[in-house]
Amino acid sequence: MDLVVAPPSSGLRGTVHVPADKSISHRALILGGMAQGTTRITNHLHSEDVNATWNALEALGVSIGHEGRDVVVEGVGLRGFSPPSTPMECANSGTTMRILAGLLAGQDFASELRGDESLSRRPMGRIIDPLRAMGASIEGTDGHPPLRITGGPLKGVDHTLAVASAQVKSCLLLAGLLAEGTTRIAEPAQSRDHTVRMLRHFGAHVESHNCAHSINGGQMLTGRAVEVCADISSAAFLVVGALIVPDSELLLPGVGVNPTRSGALEVLGRMGACIERRSDRETSGEPVADLTVSTSSLSGAVIDGDVVPRLIDEIPILAVAATQAAGRTTIADAAELRVKETDRIAALAHELRKMGASIEERPDGMIVEGPTPLRGAICDGHGDHRIAMALSIAGLVADGETTVRGTECIDVSFPGFEQALIGAAGPPGS
Ligand code: S3P
Repeated sequence: MDLVVAPPSSGLRGTVHVPADKSISHRALILGGMAQGTTRITNHLHSEDVNATWNALEALGVSIGHEGRDVVVEGVGLRGFSPPSTPMECANSGTTMRILAGLLAGQDFASELRGDESLSRRPMGRIIDPLRAMGASIEGTDGHPPLRITGGPLKGVDHTLAVASAQVKSCLLLAGLLAEGTTRIAEPAQSRDHTVRMLRHFGAHVESHNCAHSINGGQMLTGRAVEVCADISSAAFLVVGALIVPDSELLLPGVGVNPTRSGALEVLGRMGACIERRSDRETSGEPVADLTVSTSSLSGAVIDGDVVPRLIDEIPILAVAATQAAGRTTIADAAELRVKETDRIAALAHELRKMGASIEERPDGMIVEGPTPLRGAICDGHGDHRIAMALSIAGLVADGETTVRGTECIDVSFPGFEQALIGAAGPPGS
């Protein structure tokens, strides 16, 4: 599928209800499945990635259904899962594969997790090694999917992650819940902490000090109501759209502003963005606020160090913002981008250069010189939802028409993206 984008005749205006948070939706289904009793999820994200988790849990014997617009999960408890009759397809979803591997390592049966072509290229050694240290039998193919897991008794370990990763941390927290003794996990920098927050919401005790967490095995989870906030990673595309398209003012209600996820708001603030945050509140243990964004003159910034894991998914759209910012933007310490759904550093440099951007690719990031007038081009989404959306937003400020090829991948996280853009900007050419 192609998405054709052109600069709107006026700014992005009005209110956009951004889809629900992908990370939190995965976790609500998984912890709901592991809990005793019923979990009711309000504002669940129905996207391809989260559907992969839903299908895998059903294959493991969890009953998940709808009541009105809510999703209802009937938990089976920590060890009430049944052996799946076929391999479970995780599609494009690293979150599904890495978190479920922790759950499956502690079950009393064998299972297999598979991925699509992109997921099959992603590194799994980072979960295989610590799960083996806990006593699990888990095989990949040269450290990549598919993963064949023979579940069994686990013991707690102390593990320090080489790279900050919420998926790895979450995998080990769930394995730790199923293990005998205490599991301690330390990260080099803080990654998103949704699993820790949700474990507590479901009644578990997790101790946290800075970037280290410990969990005792055998704690029971109790089914709860979970209301999912709007996804800050999806909101970020509209935020940057409103910042760079002249004459914009956009209201984005109920966006998750968890400090372990909201690094992009901090960096954009440093770049001179007008983003007003109102009605701060807490929903199911997660900080939430309404954001109002208006067109701003941006300047370049340095994005490196500890903030990187807190905005890792927003780097594609921050690179687009950087093309319109005055001066140099340096993005460093972000080599992880090379092992996401695609090599995001290479993909961004290649595609944004087609539009006239000045980008120098670095092993762990990029240098963007701005502001550059962009021109419409035929771009490729590289099968990566966030690359496809970032290029579509760049098209809003490019001279002429931009065609983004392969935009069906956007359904991985932001179903209705095109309609949301049309809602805010009007139809193409208007
Ligand atoms: C996610 C964690 C991050 C992020 C991904 C979602 C999660 O991945 O990039 O989109 O929901 O836990 P890593 O754990 O690989 O950093």
